[in-house]
Amino acid sequence: MHVEVIAAAPDRKSTLANMLELYGHDFSEFLDLEIGLDGRFGYVDLPLYWTEPGRHPFLIHVNGKLAGFVFVKEESAASGQQPLWDMAEFFVVRAYRRRGIGIQAAHEVWRRFPGPWQVRVMQSNASAVEFWSRAISTFTREPIQPVSIENGGKIWHSFSFVSKP
Ligand SMILES: CC(C)(COP(=O)(O)OP(=O)(O)OC[C@H]1O[C@@H](n2cnc3c(N)ncnc32)[C@H](O)[C@@H]1OP(=O)(O)O)[C@@H](O)C(=O)NCCC(=O)NCCS
Repeated sequence: MHVEVIAAAPDRKSTLANMLELYGHDFSEFLDLEIGLDGRFGYVDLPLYWTEPGRHPFLIHVNGKLAGFVFVKEESAASGQQPLWDMAEFFVVRAYRRRGIGIQAAHEVWRRFPGPWQVRVMQSNASAVEFWSRAISTFTREPIQPVSIENGGKIWHSFSFVSKP
């Protein structure tokens, strides 16, 4: 399978909005996401991915077909420090899951953005916790343990590592 991570131009905004609905539906299982009366979850920050510096939207293609998306966000650096890359959103379409596509796409993104990274995941999203610890440890070739944080009554796991150029 040929996995590509492609920068999403502004004319792919509606494609991403459509996939974000699938993502929202997956997340509504463990997050208090409410569907609107229009039948959509919505994603208010989507336009910012083409207007705010430090935001990078990508599409995942498999053999030329749409298979997911990735949003990368640069967190503002503390004075004099390197910027921190954040895996803001990450999604593989259900039909393509458990085939190693997520791992390949994540590794490709980390190679493109060298430096310190953080990946945060809700404890209740158990499959994603498994996925990230596997994806990161196979990338860095070191075991990784997340730090647990409580935020808004939910437990989050935060993974920190460095993508070496
Ligand atoms: C999490 C997600 C991105 C994984 O994508 P994927 O392409 O299926 O992942 P991969 O096939 O590359 O999985 C690699 C490894 O991660 C782990 N993993 C992935 N999905 C898993 C699951 N449902 N349960 C347990 N472990 C899982 C496994 O170790 C897997 O290796 P294996 O298949 O050889 O056992 C995908 O399930 C998804 O889009 N979920 C909904 C959105 C989401 O939760 N995103 C993450 C937000 S933090």
